[in-house]
Amino acid sequence: MTNPTAVPLYLDCDTGIDDALAVGYLLAHPDANLLGIGSVSGNVSAAVGAVNTLDLLALAGREDIPVASGAHHPLAGEFAGGAPHVHGANGIGGVDLAPAQAETTGETAAEMLVRLARENPGTLHVLAIGPLTNLALALRLDPNLPALVDHVTIMGGAAMVPGNITPVAEANIANDAEAAAAVLAADWDITLVPLDVTMEHVFEEEHRQQLLAAGQPMATALGEMLGYYFGFYESQYGRPCSAMHDPLAAAIAVGGIVPAIAPRVNVQVDATAGPGRGQTVCDLRGRFRGFPDQPGARTRVVLTLAEEFSPHLVGTILGAN
Ligand code: BDR
Ligand code: CA
Repeated sequence: MTNPTAVPLYLDCDTGIDDALAVGYLLAHPDANLLGIGSVSGNVSAAVGAVNTLDLLALAGREDIPVASGAHHPLAGEFAGGAPHVHGANGIGGVDLAPAQAETTGETAAEMLVRLARENPGTLHVLAIGPLTNLALALRLDPNLPALVDHVTIMGGAAMVPGNITPVAEANIANDAEAAAAVLAADWDITLVPLDVTMEHVFEEEHRQQLLAAGQPMATALGEMLGYYFGFYESQYGRPCSAMHDPLAAAIAVGGIVPAIAPRVNVQVDATAGPGRGQTVCDLRGRFRGFPDQPGARTRVVLTLAEEFSPHLVGTILGAN
């Protein structure tokens, strides 16, 4: 039975290995109530992301959660083919999941988001862990959407650290900079979970082994996917381990992890064609004054956490937290 105080969530994702971990985390967390999931092109196409999501839900026995296929192309330009070097050709590290019986709903992801916001006025939490195309399209469908939504949590951006797809840009933002600019400029409260924290809270081989040793189908599948993910991140960290982007945003969205330094500041997305394209320009000039909130700013930028993330992630997926 759903915890009556659980956070009602719309999840928007490009599943993706770390997206799969976020789904596994949310399914296991008692304070998450997944009302619907939309896919978007990013790590894989929106269509493949939807299939991966459906298969994960089937693995968890949660095919009751509806999945909508979302935008294939970004607002401007075309889907560039994803990131098989990071996530594998099928997006989930070559792991074969049993095909789900359930299919995507007939609606688009943007339509699902608008519908859920209208059905849950003032309480819906939007968690976006892929490019922000669907959110931008939902804003076009219903310009009143920000007034209906309680909060938006986004994995994306790089505030005070380098990017991961260009020297300044993070992938989710850069893969649809126009959408990100529109979503970050809209009139709603946002928590931005950038590379500043997701690259710092590293998932180590000992954590992966804990998932594999538990003998649980979801934990085993995620542990196997991480074998592929570690292969990519070894080139970054020099040892078998990985960053943990999307599950951290999921944990912050449901209150499983509490940020330490997270000022509310003005954030703008560079959607120009130059070398700054995709950069999240965060006004952190208050850093030597304890990062005060800026008057009127509605985006909280998470810079540090109050605790280590990986033990919490493992514990939650294994049902121990
Ligand atoms: C983000 O980009 C994707 O590759 C990951 O799934 C994550 O959402 C990290 O930059
Ligand atoms: Ca993602």
